[in-house]
Amino acid sequence: MSTPDIQATVDPLDEAALDAAVEQALAEIAKAADLDELKAARTAHTGDRSTLALANRAIGTLPGPDKARAGKLIGPRRGRVNKAVAARQTQLEAERDERVLVEEAVDVTLPAVRTASGARHPIESVQERIADFFVGLGWEIADGPELESEWFNFDALNFGPDHPARQMQDTFYVGGTRTAGGPQDAGAGAASSNLVLRTHTSPVQAHSMLDRGAPLYIACPGKVFRTDALDQTHTPVFHQVEGLAVDKGLTMANLVGTLDAFARAMFGPEARTRLRPSFFPFTEPSAEMDLWFPQKRGGAGWIEWGGCGMVNPNVLRTAGIDPDEYSGFAFGMGIERTLMLRHGIADMHDIVEGDVRFSTQFGTEI
Ligand code: DAH
Repeated sequence: MSTPDIQATVDPLDEAALDAAVEQALAEIAKAADLDELKAARTAHTGDRSTLALANRAIGTLPGPDKARAGKLIGPRRGRVNKAVAARQTQLEAERDERVLVEEAVDVTLPAVRTASGARHPIESVQERIADFFVGLGWEIADGPELESEWFNFDALNFGPDHPARQMQDTFYVGGTRTAGGPQDAGAGAASSNLVLRTHTSPVQAHSMLDRGAPLYIACPGKVFRTDALDQTHTPVFHQVEGLAVDKGLTMANLVGTLDAFARAMFGPEARTRLRPSFFPFTEPSAEMDLWFPQKRGGAGWIEWGGCGMVNPNVLRTAGIDPDEYSGFAFGMGIERTLMLRHGIADMHDIVEGDVRFSTQFGTEI
């Protein structure tokens, strides 16, 4: 690009040679396609070893009168070259800025890449919805320990000592079997002292009656445990909601009205319940509760939802409440089952596996 031969031999008074150097400089400056090329052209034509710089330096060697003439020849020519460099510099910078604006443009209308941090599990949100419903009725939310004394889990609920539910295939005994003995229980009046993972939320009935006395209106959603293997409809760890009302003059009519209102809150205005006679040690009379289920596979029909009944006088008495003064009703149903019915979930695995894609389907993304 540069022409060192000319540079070495330039005569500061040789106007033609100086013009040639200027022409060459202007041509290369104009030709520079980017800032790097321009920088090279500038060094070649304005730098210390450029023709014009060398000619300028040679002025010092000239006799007096020639000095001024040479100065007038070289100064304006160097000025022209410098100006051309500056102009081309401005132009190339503008081009670069424009290119950068296009190449690095950000489309702010594109959807952002979202990283989901998790989702509330629908079991949690259904429990919350259930709690909201009962709070709306003026009831309180109660809870009890998941690690429960056998006395609260069974004895206080009028289970006989040989009731089959106590057997190992249903109940997780903690710290040894019932016959082998286990940790001592501190519960008042405990007839049996082993610890179990509670098999239902019903022991919260006895806790609440002992702690709060009558009258009493409580609902208790919570976790329960049974020695079932995980399959499409069972899981060893699941959830129930327990309801208990104890007051003067409560009858089955109050139970039915409460269950129907609860069913409508969970399944919509068309929902209905019906009771079928059944048996639970802690209620008398006892009933299975069915739910009218229009979306049932194979056509609308009744589907089992939970158990209920009038609190057995023995249970009231054990919890220090006089059954001649007070009566009560109680009910309990599975929350997984409620969720499966509400949302048409066919497989329990989906509920327990904890895949966030399952939870986000319920609009609970956080
Ligand atoms: N505890 C029962 C179970 O786990 C459900 C149940 C039935 C609860 C009747 C109740 C009731 O409060 O009155 O299967």
